[in-house]
Amino acid sequence: MLEKLITAAAGITLAFAATGSAARAQEPIAQAVVAIETARPGAPINRNIYGHFAEHLGRGIYEGIWVGPDSRIPNIRGYRRDVVDALRQLEVPVIRWPGGCFSEVYDWRDGIGPRAQRPVRTRMHWDDTVDSNDFGTHEYLDFMELIGAQTYVSGNVGSMSPRDMQLWLEYMTADNDSTLAKERRKNGRAKPWKIDFFGIGNETWGCGGNMRPEYAADVNARYSAFIDPPASMGLVKVASGASVQGGGDYEAFTEAMMKHMGQTDALSFHYYAMPMGRPKSEALGFGEDEWADVLDLARQMEPMLARVSAIMDKHDPDKKVPLFVDEWGTWYKLDKNAKPGEHHFQQASLRDAMVAALTFNIFHRHTDRVKMANIAQMVNVLQAVILTEGDKMVLTPTYHLFDLYKPFMDAVPYPVSIASPEYIHGKIAMPMVDATAARGKDGRLYLALVNVDPDRAISVSTLMGTSASGRILTGPAMDTNNSFAAPDTIKPVPFAGTSINGRLVFDLPAKSVAVVAID
Ligand code: AHR
Repeated sequence: MLEKLITAAAGITLAFAATGSAARAQEPIAQAVVAIETARPGAPINRNIYGHFAEHLGRGIYEGIWVGPDSRIPNIRGYRRDVVDALRQLEVPVIRWPGGCFSEVYDWRDGIGPRAQRPVRTRMHWDDTVDSNDFGTHEYLDFMELIGAQTYVSGNVGSMSPRDMQLWLEYMTADNDSTLAKERRKNGRAKPWKIDFFGIGNETWGCGGNMRPEYAADVNARYSAFIDPPASMGLVKVASGASVQGGGDYEAFTEAMMKHMGQTDALSFHYYAMPMGRPKSEALGFGEDEWADVLDLARQMEPMLARVSAIMDKHDPDKKVPLFVDEWGTWYKLDKNAKPGEHHFQQASLRDAMVAALTFNIFHRHTDRVKMANIAQMVNVLQAVILTEGDKMVLTPTYHLFDLYKPFMDAVPYPVSIASPEYIHGKIAMPMVDATAARGKDGRLYLALVNVDPDRAISVSTLMGTSASGRILTGPAMDTNNSFAAPDTIKPVPFAGTSINGRLVFDLPAKSVAVVAID
């Protein structure tokens, strides 16, 4: 039966012995088969799909990254040492800053010069708290050098002029005797910085100015004309694209932007695994309804990417314009214990790691277009990879998932066909097993397997290789999480496949994600 299914699905003929062996004392009931087509390599997985987003929102920047050089919390020039170490371990490739909606009210001049003299501003978007501006252009760009990440600065088109944007870029990148270059030197930075990506606004259909699609495209074209860094810098200018949660028609918005890209090189897209028109899930303490719903919402990224890609193909058949999913992740109810100003703070559980795995697998299947993605957001906000409280830090299951998936950075993906039973809950149905495979930079074949079923284990077979080992992330409950009191409750543990009658067999527990190298 499995043979037939997979043959029908992919036109691949597989032959292997029936599953089941006396040697295997406890045969799981559910079974799936995975076929990897190594003869059909795809476009490489751009490491930037493992990127992050850090906005001036809640405790994302202040307390989460920046505590200041005089803090009692161990720090490197003001950056939390524990967070810097954790991000270095992840090999974070790129971080988008300062927003988000915040970028559309941000005046870069507020965040340069001696900190004591910087103005304190009320944050218009999301919070009514104030921003000290202690973390500004120098602090962001020094931080990027500290952790070795590429820079992605998001400009303000909603409330400032193209000239302001142009001057900001000149301040950061000029290597001449201009007044702005001198000012930067006086403020402590002799060499120009390298800006890798520059966003022309954020969500221009909404917090970026409530623009209609054609108008937004015109504004993008106008602003992008004034962003003119040294050619040797190789700056990629990013047009602010559609969002599914924007209330408007994301297809029409994508169409309008693609028709008139101006001098932008890439297009962005936002999608959150968040219900619309009905209550959001709690981050913890949820039931199976919310488990299935959130995973189903995460899986909707795929048809949406397919639609956006199809529109892009019409205007750009040679696929020269990359798509950056520069905001994605889960969005739950605010944590019950969140203090005032802790906007969008949510705990994270095994469910979030499952969402991240399903999402990365989708990105791996769309490498022809998707060249960057930025999880929202890096620390203390939405689907954070790190949570902090005072001097304590917790690595969330999403962090561990990013760590598990590191071998996929710059790897060459292969199509994977999966014959899997369905996970069904109420009206929601999805394949129980999702998988992705790629040839890593080290030459090894990596396979990621996800079992979305919260109750049933599954035996997954493949004909590839003779041995496989790696790590698995799972937990006893759907909302297993790491808390400040118990920070190591969930983390990856060793996992291996078994060679049986010419197949590799993986016994995947319920609600788990495994990444293995196959030899
Ligand atoms: O990530 C939180 C917010 O979500 C961002 O500021 C905005 O771009 C999006 O709507």
